[in-house]
Amino acid sequence: MSNRLNTTPNDLRAFWMPFTANRQFKKEPRLFVGAKDMHYTTHDGRQVLDATAGLWCVNAGHCRPKITEAIREQAGELDYAPAFQLGHPKAFELANRLVNIAPDGLNHVLYTNSGSESVDTALKVALAYHRVKGDGSRFRLIGRERGYHGVNFGGISVGGIVANRKMFGTLLTGVDHMPHTHQPGKNAFTRGEPEHGGDLASELERIVTLHDASTIAAVIVEPVAGSTGVLIPPKGYLQKLRDICTKHGILLIFDEVITGFGRMGTPFAAQYYGVTPDIMTTAKGLTNGVIPMGAVLVSSEIHDAFMSGPEHMIEFFHGYTYSGNPIAAAAGLATLETYKEEGLFDRARDMAPYWEDGLHSLKDLPNVIDIRNIGTIGAIELDPIAGEPTKRAFSAFLKAYENGLLIRTTGDIIAMSPPLIAEKHHIDEIFGKLREILKSNI
Ligand SMILES: Cc1ncc(COP(=O)(O)O)c(C=O)c1O
Repeated sequence: MSNRLNTTPNDLRAFWMPFTANRQFKKEPRLFVGAKDMHYTTHDGRQVLDATAGLWCVNAGHCRPKITEAIREQAGELDYAPAFQLGHPKAFELANRLVNIAPDGLNHVLYTNSGSESVDTALKVALAYHRVKGDGSRFRLIGRERGYHGVNFGGISVGGIVANRKMFGTLLTGVDHMPHTHQPGKNAFTRGEPEHGGDLASELERIVTLHDASTIAAVIVEPVAGSTGVLIPPKGYLQKLRDICTKHGILLIFDEVITGFGRMGTPFAAQYYGVTPDIMTTAKGLTNGVIPMGAVLVSSEIHDAFMSGPEHMIEFFHGYTYSGNPIAAAAGLATLETYKEEGLFDRARDMAPYWEDGLHSLKDLPNVIDIRNIGTIGAIELDPIAGEPTKRAFSAFLKAYENGLLIRTTGDIIAMSPPLIAEKHHIDEIFGKLREILKSNI
């Protein structure tokens, strides 16, 4: 008898699923076979309302015609063009469109295929920038506790989620972490930006004093920490980080993989907070999640520092086979066009107060210990079951799925971020269903 796995299409064993309880899943599979606008269709023919925009990425809603058509057309016209020493028009066009909606000064774009690659690209740009300027002693990278910057080695090194780091050896050296900003004792149930904790940014000064500014290349943070369970920056915090970085010649990187493309009611969180980083990482909503693609935006100062030496020489030894892939670029252009035509960023801004009210109406339900929101992002933190962390939220996730609602959980926190096309009745349905689930002894 062969010991090979059965290879019939409905055998679930071969696919080792990412960030998934594989054994639980394979006993009770949850498969999506279709999607349209705000809903998924499950393999057993049910409709599931998407309260998470897939995985924080389907900002324009599912299977939008303009995007689908652009991909179809591009696949028939130019499927692939080599990314090194050659190009194709749409990659340039998309870069220009991105720069147009980005914060002032972020004028150049490097393409990647995911958020994780965007982060590692950004960290490499930061290190190399100091080196080309003759400041190669700046090798340290500073992240933050509870930060999520994807799963590649750079990202997990500056990231601060223990489970994502502890298995993987020494990671990058020369990394330090600022404290996270979660202060539930002072800020629980705050609507929008917390009052307390802005002073935590001064911890960066302490780290700078410890290592000396001359050794620090960059600081990376998510403007709103998403994957750890939605931690909103306290008032004044991001501006203070900006000031400290500027003062010490340290680059500030905003990881906008979640907060980009309208999630905050502005193109990027940088504009929402009025704080401009030197480098910004994006992915997810760039192509509405439809085709893998990321983009790193950098300031002219950074870009221009590399543009020296003989003109036939490559200026930056970095890139991916699929950087600016034609089909991804077509998807990106159609996505940006859809956001613009339908005014989806403004729509998200206008919907945010309704979202906030609905979310906070769940405040008095059993086991709810905190609720947080900003833009159209929301989180409900649950009291963990003693001795069984994560189980309460996971039960809520399973119940929601059975009841036709897709939520996301991380630890004992429910996180949500619906597509920006959500109508008020969708928001009512999300919180109506959640209310019933949270009332039912999970
Ligand atoms: C802030 C942030 N950075 C990076 C990533 C990694 O993106 P990807 O899963 O596309 O590699 C994520 C994913 O959720 C993220 O939220």
